Amino acid sequence: MADLHGRVALVTGAARGQGRSHALMLAEAGADIIAADICTSVPTAPYPLATREDLDTTVAEIEKLDRRALPLECDIRSSAQLDTVVAAGLAEFGKIDILVANAGIWALGRLWELTDEQWGEVVDINLNGTWRTIKAVVPSMIEKRGGSIVVTASVNGFEAGGGMTHYVAAKHGVLGLMKNAALELGPYNIRCNAVCPGIVDTKMNDWQGCYDMMAGHPGGTPEDRREGAYSWSVLAGRGLLRPSAVSKAVLWLASDDASDVTGVALPIDGGHSILPGVNPAPVRDF
Ligand SMILES: NC(=O)c1ccc[n+]([C@@H]2O[C@H](COP(=O)([O-])OP(=O)(O)OC[C@H]3O[C@@H](n4cnc5c(N)ncnc54)[C@H](O)[C@@H]3O)[C@@H](O)[C@H]2O)c1
Repeated sequence: MADLHGRVALVTGAARGQGRSHALMLAEAGADIIAADICTSVPTAPYPLATREDLDTTVAEIEKLDRRALPLECDIRSSAQLDTVVAAGLAEFGKIDILVANAGIWALGRLWELTDEQWGEVVDINLNGTWRTIKAVVPSMIEKRGGSIVVTASVNGFEAGGGMTHYVAAKHGVLGLMKNAALELGPYNIRCNAVCPGIVDTKMNDWQGCYDMMAGHPGGTPEDRREGAYSWSVLAGRGLLRPSAVSKAVLWLASDDASDVTGVALPIDGGHSILPGVNPAPVRDF
């Protein structure tokens, strides 16, 4: 296992889901954790975001691993809040070696029906917020001439997805951001890579709109979501991915085991991205 003893990692979206899993796996490998999360919901996400109790649970689980954890409420849409998080993290631990820019939201809506607010919130959190997070952390990494940044994109960072143009556009943007961060920060020995998960079992996709999407019709059920996920994978027996599947890739990219790796977009998707494409709803008459 990668050794992160003596390292400090900032994880955004750490209160639950993949972010909590990443924080715990990094802590298990020895890192102390700055755990940031918005801890409140936003108007256009069609499901509730994490709560303060969720963040406190993450912290309690890190402490059970005998690692230190600093919980901070922060909206990655705010540079001022991110600067406060970085300042608090530096005051507590003296440095930030690893950034896992994982926070994000998902929403659905046909592109010609999306409101400015719906488009804006997804792009402002998933893309602009990821840029702001990197921007806030990077000066301290430049100063110490080293660091590893892992951003969370998605398979929607390189492929379309029906009824989620804003999400797809933002995640494509995250990959561009990652590549340019790798280019511009490489001379300071700071690496930047992306994980691109397929469909992961978290609260982000555990709501009615996702059940309907997976069923292919209104009135979908949690079972449609669970069953439908098998069609997203090439590998046998892989339906909804466990958050830990993504955390293992985050841990590797964050650690010295990947010290020569930068600018990479790594799918963790059960082979989803090599599936031969078929149109699930072809229109014959026009
Ligand atoms: N679940 C999937 O199938 C899937 C697939 C591909 C990529 N992703 C990406 O993985 C990342 C993690 O999502 P998840 O699956 O764990 O879902 P999740 O909803 O469980 O976790 C997302 C976390 O981000 C936090 N967050 C949201 N907006 C924030 C903001 N403005 N500032 C700070 N924190 C904020 C939430 O409170 C929550 O704790 C996201 O970037 C998401 O786009 C998810």
